Amino acid sequence: MRKILTTMVLLAVFTVSALAKEGMWIPILLQKYNIEEMQEMGFRLTAEDIYSVNQACMKDAVVIFGGGCTGELISNEGLLITNHHCGFDAIQKHSSVEHDYLTDGFWAKSRDEELINPDLTVTFMKRMEDVTAKVMEGVSDSMNMADKDDIIKKNIKNIIEEATKDNHYKALVKSFFHGNQYFLFVNEVYTDVRLVGAPPSAIGKFGGDTDNWMWPRHTGDFSLFRIYADKDNKPADYSADNVPYMPLKHFPISIKGVEEGDFTMVFGYPGTTEQYVPSAHLKMITQKINPELIDIRTQKLDIIKKYQAKDPAVRIQYASKAARISNSWKRWIGEIKGLDKLDAINKKEAFEAKFQSWAKEYNNGEYINLLAEYEDIYPDYTSYRLAYNCLSETVYRNGMETVRFVGYFKKLKEAYEADSLDLDKIKNIKANLVKKTNAFFKDYYAPIDKELTTSLLKAYQQKLPKKFWPSVYQEIEKRYKNDIEKFTATLFSKTLVTDKENVLDYIENFSAKNIKKLEKDPAYRTFESFYDVYANTIYATYRAFYNDVQELNRKYMTAQIAFRENEILYPDANFTLRVSYGQVKGYEPKDGTIFKHYTTLDGIIEKDNPDIYDYKVPARLKELYAQKDFGKYEYKGSVPVCFIATNHTTGGNSGSPVVNGNGELIGVNFDRAWEGVMSDLMFNPEQCRNISLDMRYVLFLIDKFAGAGYLLDEMTIVE
Ligand code: ARG
Ligand code: GLU
Repeated sequence: MRKILTTMVLLAVFTVSALAKEGMWIPILLQKYNIEEMQEMGFRLTAEDIYSVNQACMKDAVVIFGGGCTGELISNEGLLITNHHCGFDAIQKHSSVEHDYLTDGFWAKSRDEELINPDLTVTFMKRMEDVTAKVMEGVSDSMNMADKDDIIKKNIKNIIEEATKDNHYKALVKSFFHGNQYFLFVNEVYTDVRLVGAPPSAIGKFGGDTDNWMWPRHTGDFSLFRIYADKDNKPADYSADNVPYMPLKHFPISIKGVEEGDFTMVFGYPGTTEQYVPSAHLKMITQKINPELIDIRTQKLDIIKKYQAKDPAVRIQYASKAARISNSWKRWIGEIKGLDKLDAINKKEAFEAKFQSWAKEYNNGEYINLLAEYEDIYPDYTSYRLAYNCLSETVYRNGMETVRFVGYFKKLKEAYEADSLDLDKIKNIKANLVKKTNAFFKDYYAPIDKELTTSLLKAYQQKLPKKFWPSVYQEIEKRYKNDIEKFTATLFSKTLVTDKENVLDYIENFSAKNIKKLEKDPAYRTFESFYDVYANTIYATYRAFYNDVQELNRKYMTAQIAFRENEILYPDANFTLRVSYGQVKGYEPKDGTIFKHYTTLDGIIEKDNPDIYDYKVPARLKELYAQKDFGKYEYKGSVPVCFIATNHTTGGNSGSPVVNGNGELIGVNFDRAWEGVMSDLMFNPEQCRNISLDMRYVLFLIDKFAGAGYLLDEMTIVE
């Protein structure tokens, strides 16, 4: 009995590790490190099919979408799919009261109807190359950091110039393994990217912030765009003469379905992870930074939600702001829980103990003081990082709205204070301010801002020591006897930021004689006083500690590579193209609960609740469900909606292609499950799951829901 049990346990451990593969791997190194294992797990293609400079391959069908997402080509006429939340800005910009594409969805019925997005780009990676030797040319160990940095910067500049000499490509060099390795990326950027289709938000954002970061999930998180090129298929800014871009490769779409255990690969742009940091870093994040920032954001969300519940107009005005605040807030909470459950700090400490005894012997003790240096620097680093983060939360990141807004006048004031008046510049600043003013008042509700301002001013003071307090707190102490409410009341009654017309008027008539008045504005003074501490007390010191920590990270990484010489390590995410592979798999989120690996349309109908905004199912979808009109997208009497797998992903992977063993598109990545979001710091194969939208649901929506089946004609569908 006992023996059987042990074997079973061993077997279980073995299966988990075989199913889940931690890591975000470098495309040009797959042949060397990963392809064999990938093939064992069910991948039926070669490394060259993923990355090659000699043949069309998957990398030619994957793009950076905008500034922080991934997208992939799904037709040879430039059609591209990404997430709804990645296309959100574009969809929103085209929406108005007459055409509310956010609410109703949008489907271009012909190429003429596709919508132009002047600020949107997509970026293809043409090739990458290890340039470590060239970057390090002339650098020696004995140099000080500043000299090293200078040489490295100069070398990088040369490498980039060389790579872009006779072409229209853009190049960049990125550091891997914390400055232990450098890769050159040569990219091609297309600037005419048009909106083709998007489901209504009730589908594309179904479940909203309530379901965000959660499984089971039912969000139809996708949107469609088309890349246009000049007649030579080269990048060109928008022109009516541009034609659909013909990619070297596009993904075929499989509607054969996914079963538990199937191989999956995610190919996209993961943003940031911190896998190799010391335990001191985990302590900082879990014991100090996350809890304090969670607390600040909880206050913000409570205030916003209170007013949203009272007034549907306010709910809409603050929906996007609340979503932005809530996204990281929720992830931070999950991160603490996940690291706790993993016993991550103890695991790191146990690793460090082993590392330390190795370091005593290695290379005359070269790394013997490393961990002690971390211990030395982290207390100061933590206090400055906390100050830096709290100030951002208070002023910049959806913090005090009026105070932040009036801060935009700083530039105008400075332009008038300059020795000679640059009228063109002033005109530009004013035009910009007019834009900002319109945007500000469109989504502004003063009662929320008043409460936010009071609560943030209190939180800032409570969380940080006096040396970080802006001068405005002296005023609050002296003139308001520390009564922050009273101070805020005065601030709002005296500020020039009252209503839009007033502010627009103020901008139009602004001249040198207004400077005094601006300087007296209590909101402006509050902004200036925060800006002053930021610029003079916090930023430079924070940056210095940060750089010292980076330098330690570089050394510690070099040391860990030596210490773990028998392992294949993957570099932290740095928003470069990576491969994550794993398998479709459910998980146990908590004792007594098992989560399946997929969800269906049934679950959408189950969640339907017309009284809860996040769960209002569109009538048309209910109709299709009632008629069981599922066509070829049917699976076991329903339509599959989302699935989970063990791929190691992070922010930036949104919109990434999820492909099966044949390299066919089966899903679009859009999230991670709550119990596994600590994977940015430590991966747990039993709990970490990426969430993907099933391509069958995408095609069902395009075909049956939107009646835009003509879009399927240009896709390659594997049935
Ligand atoms: N959690 C997903 C990702 O980081 C989706 C975010 C957008 N959705 C939302 N409800 N805020 O970033
Ligand atoms: N939604 C995330 C993004 O925008 C992906 C989720 C994650 O962090 O894994 O990239």
